[in-house]
Amino acid sequence: MFVTVLLLLGALCAHKGHGQESEATQRPGHVSVVIIGATGDLARKYLWQGFFNTYVNQVKGGNTFSFYGGGQSSSDKATPLMFEILKGVSCPKDMSQERCALLKDQFLRLAQYRQLKTLEHYQDLAKHIEKKLQDEAMTETGRLFYLSVPAYAYADIADKINQSCRPTMGGWLRVVLEKPFGHDLLSAEVLASQLASSLKEEEMYRIDHYLGKQVIAKILPFRKENKKFLDPIWNKHHIERVEIVLKETLDVQGRMSFYDQYGVIRDVIQNHLTEVMMLLTMRLPSNLSSSEEVVQNKLRILDSLLPLGKNQVVIGQYQGYNSEVQLELNKTKDHISLTPTFAAVLAHIDEAQFEGVPILLISGKMLDKRVGYARVVFKNDIFCLQNQNGVHCKPRQIIFYFGHGSLQYPAVLVSKNLFKPVLMDAEWKEVTEHSDVSVLGLPVSDYYVHTPTKQHEAYSELIAHIFSGHKNSFISIENLLSSWSIWTPLLSSLNSAYPRIYPGGEDNGHMLDIHLKGMDISYKNEVVIISPDQTAGTSANSAKVLQGKFCNADMVSAWSEELVGQLAVDMQEAAEAAVLESGVFHLALSGGSTPLALFHRLALHHFSFPWRNTHVWMVDERCVPLAEVESNFRTLHDHLLHHVRIPYFNIHPMPVELNHRLCVEEDRGAQIYESDIRTLVNGSSFHFVLLGVGFNGHTASLFPGAKVEEHGQSLVALTESPVKPHQRMSLTFTAINRAHRVALLVMGKGKHEMITQLSRLKNSTDRWPVTNVKPDNNRLVWYIDYDALIG
Ligand SMILES: *[C@@H]1O[C@H](CO)[C@@H](O)[C@H](O)[C@H]1NC(C)=O
Ligand SMILES: *[C@@H]1O[C@H](CO)[C@@H](O)[C@H](O)[C@H]1NC(C)=O
Ligand SMILES: *[C@@H]1O[C@H](CO)[C@@H](O)[C@H](O)[C@H]1NC(C)=O
Ligand SMILES: *[C@@H]1O[C@H](CO)[C@@H](O)[C@H](O)[C@H]1NC(C)=O
Ligand SMILES: *[C@@H]1O[C@H](CO)[C@@H](O)[C@H](O)[C@H]1NC(C)=O
Repeated sequence: MFVTVLLLLGALCAHKGHGQESEATQRPGHVSVVIIGATGDLARKYLWQGFFNTYVNQVKGGNTFSFYGGGQSSSDKATPLMFEILKGVSCPKDMSQERCALLKDQFLRLAQYRQLKTLEHYQDLAKHIEKKLQDEAMTETGRLFYLSVPAYAYADIADKINQSCRPTMGGWLRVVLEKPFGHDLLSAEVLASQLASSLKEEEMYRIDHYLGKQVIAKILPFRKENKKFLDPIWNKHHIERVEIVLKETLDVQGRMSFYDQYGVIRDVIQNHLTEVMMLLTMRLPSNLSSSEEVVQNKLRILDSLLPLGKNQVVIGQYQGYNSEVQLELNKTKDHISLTPTFAAVLAHIDEAQFEGVPILLISGKMLDKRVGYARVVFKNDIFCLQNQNGVHCKPRQIIFYFGHGSLQYPAVLVSKNLFKPVLMDAEWKEVTEHSDVSVLGLPVSDYYVHTPTKQHEAYSELIAHIFSGHKNSFISIENLLSSWSIWTPLLSSLNSAYPRIYPGGEDNGHMLDIHLKGMDISYKNEVVIISPDQTAGTSANSAKVLQGKFCNADMVSAWSEELVGQLAVDMQEAAEAAVLESGVFHLALSGGSTPLALFHRLALHHFSFPWRNTHVWMVDERCVPLAEVESNFRTLHDHLLHHVRIPYFNIHPMPVELNHRLCVEEDRGAQIYESDIRTLVNGSSFHFVLLGVGFNGHTASLFPGAKVEEHGQSLVALTESPVKPHQRMSLTFTAINRAHRVALLVMGKGKHEMITQLSRLKNSTDRWPVTNVKPDNNRLVWYIDYDALIG
């Protein structure tokens, strides 16, 4: 626990001082707005209108403005296009016609198009801005760049902005970015580091336009305003499930070059729906306007999500998709795209408050209706004795209704059998006149319904927030990377998965119905239609586990997923046998990245494993504080221990830090650990030791050339690693070879060369430390995946 707390504090401190000048302290001055991609779709539909709205609201504030549209096209080509868009902006409904005409006229006069392609173009723009400031003797408030361009252009534009367009006299710089921010963790990290070389984090505003939707922005305030009703019921005892759903009726035509690379999970689930999930489940910040607190509470929720793998998702693709891809991307008839256009994901939050509550994230194209909502369904804990259908009373639910669908307007709905909500906000009103519609199973008159008094377009809201430097409604970098680290494993597990093909619209019938089975999700109906495309290639994935011999020991081999599954089963068998015999199971686990897949598997299927009787020991540790990300214990904690119900006193990290220093011989850390083992583990024989093997043949932290005979009969030793951090603490071969069972797990193509060399060695040698693993009773099993075995 203390691990997390320390990190939070660290992160909070790091944020201090980053605070943008707040609105209040800003003196009025001049603001330059630059929309790059000025004539694109987004600019046409939302951005110019949003900036016009802001202009209308800000003129009172005393700031003056200029608006620059930028793009690749030359000025004479793009200028008329851009002004065509600008003429189309509309005024607030309650504004007089004369005032509207006046403001629009001013807005048009403040706008111009500039070609922004080369560095010179950006330098010219900067000169132009500075000259204007000088000529009119204005102070500069700031410069806002809105990058409405494909993401591959971000790094280059950011660099040009940094080189030439920074305000010189102390105004702010704000650069707005649109998704996609990468397509997996690695690419998101690459993009983030490219951008970080040009822009400071507080200068970047990553847009998720869902955070500008009024209903979604209302989730946290609603939770706060109704805290006294929600506190007793906002937990696993009362919540049956949470659903976050975005159904669309459109197809993807016209967006293929983007969509086919991303698919529904990257397009809307990783970002929009995940954000909504966090708002519903995060700890309520004590100060809703504190960006730091909001971000930290969001991160905690992401960190406590149980890992998502292929059993937590079902995917589909509408029938016409492939021919649209072939047509639009100019592909041949045999080109098959596996990109999902529908997905349903089942997530679980591993926190006491929400343990076991299913959280469904669902979205798709070409579905029966267009509707978006988040609904919290409560358990039926009331028995209605005279209800027609027995004990079932009316459903009790809270719905954040984003719009469209039967209700047609955004609203917060609370079923009347729950409580009468309070919305302390002049911008919201209660709706009491109801039409004859039903919303998610209840007539609308069965709900208390609240809707915004005025509907605002999400982009206009967000643009206003950018002006006020209000970072809450934007995606922080920690948030972004953390979200990708949740979604990337699920996405890679889908790499060659075949989506279920659905016809689209009403014809989908029950084809996409979903069945929740514990932690897993599947389609309710077994395969409905299989087109020939769907069967091709599946045989390569068939689950086969091979038994054999490797280096005179038993070997199990399979594709990585089945291999990890088999190892988990074998480990559980060993655990159950040990518990039956002696009431306790002593397990020693290695660090490194190889066992992560196993840890995830154990974390997801932890209910039948006898964790209560298991003692977890470390095979080895790096000499760093336990809370650091490099620490093996930290990895083990975050990926496994944190998720299972293991008693605190059964966890045995290695004492690498004693007397405020790391791995110093005189502190006798190794001896302390050894003495713990001798005291607690019968005969110092662990029941199960899990080891990995490094490229140089090292295992545990026993590296080539280490004089292992010097360890004598010691069970634990300080060792040296050729790579950083150099100092390690490790079990010795004496300890390892006393174990009842040893598993050596080897995975990945990168290990193939090493496996080949090992298979040729006859005798044990210190140049290949792993050859010294020879448990006395010969209960060594190699678990080698096909990638490592076959290459
Ligand atoms: C911006 O450019 C300058 C050099 O012109 C460089 O020193 C700086 O590190 C760059 N990045 C940021 C975030 O300022
Ligand atoms: C809440 O946070 C905002 C922004 O950091 C700050 O200005 C305000 O003073 C805080 N309010 C309270 C009551 O702490
Ligand atoms: C489509 O692909 C064919 C062959 O790959 C090529 O000859 C043709 O120019 C392409 N057409 C377009 C519009 O890209
Ligand atoms: C300890 O191990 C020995 C030998 O393996 C066995 O005979 C004995 O029963 C074990 N003791 C306990 C308490 O399990
Ligand atoms: C392997 O060990 C055996 C017995 O210890 C010895 O006779 C043999 O020469 C060794 N082989 C090699 C290649 O070192």
